Amino acid sequence: MMTEAELYIVCKGVYLSSKIYSPQSLKYYEEFSFRPDDIVIVTYPKSGTTWMQEIVPLIQSGGDPASVETAPNWDRVPWLESSRASILKLEQRPSPRMFATHYHYSMMPPSFFKTKPKVIYVMRNPRDVFTSSFHYYGMASYLVNPGTQNEFLHKFLDGKIMFGSWFDHVKGWLNAPDKEHTMYISYEEMIMDLKDSVARMAQFLEKPLNSETVEKIANRSVFKNMKQNKMSNYSMASNEFMDQSKSEFLRKGIAGDWKNQLTVAEAEYFDAVYKDKMKDVKYKFVWD
Ligand code: A3P
Repeated sequence: MMTEAELYIVCKGVYLSSKIYSPQSLKYYEEFSFRPDDIVIVTYPKSGTTWMQEIVPLIQSGGDPASVETAPNWDRVPWLESSRASILKLEQRPSPRMFATHYHYSMMPPSFFKTKPKVIYVMRNPRDVFTSSFHYYGMASYLVNPGTQNEFLHKFLDGKIMFGSWFDHVKGWLNAPDKEHTMYISYEEMIMDLKDSVARMAQFLEKPLNSETVEKIANRSVFKNMKQNKMSNYSMASNEFMDQSKSEFLRKGIAGDWKNQLTVAEAEYFDAVYKDKMKDVKYKFVWD
């Protein structure tokens, strides 16, 4: 079994997979020039990134399906830290450009703080992030095999996985100043009311949409429909990265699957760690 030392590099204190990120790609991001009207989707991995890579282009295009049918999600809304970003000629893309990043707030490059592009920060119940990650780490060959569920639970809670600690990520972004250019939304709110979530995002992005268009976008991006989009379901991803016969990328798409995954003792341990790490956080999460 490949270890962290073999598969990961350490960037600004967190593990990153050396198959997807490189010192050159991180340098590219560090020197990247944002525009004020850029849209940056920020997530801790497994919190709804791919879903947002569907919704935001549909909002920007006023619901035109071509916006999500002509390019795979990783080129349509590229991760700025990935090796691929530096070859996509992002400087030549017309505004508003759409990006994704898994960076913590403290990891963002200088231009971000100067230019203040629009940010949509998506959060998900960390118990479900854990559950989704456990399945994902079992099928993604660029990540260290999760080991037993209990071993992975400790790694997750200690932040010894790709992109570090969920707690640090969420706390860092929630404490970010300049809240007026940041929208906070949760995966659970999107599950509960996708139309309302789309409408709120459109409003934040200053892209007024009528209710028919909002409905169309919600319908296209709902789990069972989005799963059919080969540009979004990772069916085009190389076997070198993942084996979806073990677990699909668009796996279940529900809130609360942790209840099927964690033992009672694991859930209690999770709660205790959560309570301690989140004790200073004022934000009202839908899952609390
Ligand atoms: P599950 O493994 O719980 O199913 P990310 O894109 O940040 O890596 O997150 C992946 C998670 O988001 C997976 O969760 C995936 O199924 C879920 N997801 C992707 N598209 C979705 C959609 N349209 N609706 C609901 N969940 C979605």
